[in-house]
Amino acid sequence: MGCVRRLKNNGLNGERPLIVHGDPKSVGSEAFRTLRTNLRFVSPDQELKTILVTSVGPGDGKSTVSANLAVAFAQSGQRVALVGCDLRKPVLHKIFPMDNGVGLTALLTGNAVLDEISVAIEEVPGLDVIPSGPVPPNPAELLQSKAMANVIAELREGYDVILFDGAPVIAVTDSAVMANQVDGTVLVIRANEVPNDVALHAKTLLEQAKARLLGVVLNGVRPQDQKNYQYYYYYDDAERAQ
Ligand SMILES: Nc1ncnc2c1ncn2[C@@H]1O[C@H](COP(=O)(O)OP(=O)(O)O)[C@@H](O)[C@H]1O
Ligand SMILES: [Mg+2]
Repeated sequence: MGCVRRLKNNGLNGERPLIVHGDPKSVGSEAFRTLRTNLRFVSPDQELKTILVTSVGPGDGKSTVSANLAVAFAQSGQRVALVGCDLRKPVLHKIFPMDNGVGLTALLTGNAVLDEISVAIEEVPGLDVIPSGPVPPNPAELLQSKAMANVIAELREGYDVILFDGAPVIAVTDSAVMANQVDGTVLVIRANEVPNDVALHAKTLLEQAKARLLGVVLNGVRPQDQKNYQYYYYYDDAERAQ
């Protein structure tokens, strides 16, 4: 084991803008704060500390949503860890510019400890990002390993909220495996792109994995679509009526 080093990120001027940080007064940022609030109230009786963000397929906005939501949680004074769990398509190191040479995969293979790979985001006090690291040959096996259970337990000790930026739920089992290990799962649906039957299939897969589905984030709603959607975020009828 090498000496412990806490990596630094290189500011937030990455390839991907982070709206909650860069434009906190925007409608989009307000939507993320609403999502944060809804998640706090969705589960008054059951602990909701570890949350997986997943979606039907690639490009739906999982990383965008989890990164902005992580910032929103940190802005409210929580200690937040954002963990790159899409081991096949690492992206967090582009949103929070940092080295992805060592990350979660090193932790899961016993080649690093948490302090060595977590990156404190200077511009967002309270937020630590754990990049996924180089793409491994066996993502699903790593995610359902005892090592992953240990990582989740360690994160629970150190943070108030742990967000897992996951893989798509259709086509690979990685997110079903993760959904089973976290307190709750958020399903991101890309508005106007994901057919209803595909979205329902994703929901079924998560239910089969015994996921606790907290709700759906409808991502990419255009202003002209808004009359078709009563809310940006859908919860079940009982919660909506409250
Ligand atoms: N609401 C949105 N409006 C505009 N672009 C978006 C939105 N959500 C995501 N994107 C863009 O779509 C692309 C894929 O998003 P990403 O979060 O990486 O998806 P995933 O993690 O599901 O693969 C990125 O270029 C991202 O900036
Ligand atoms: Mg992603």
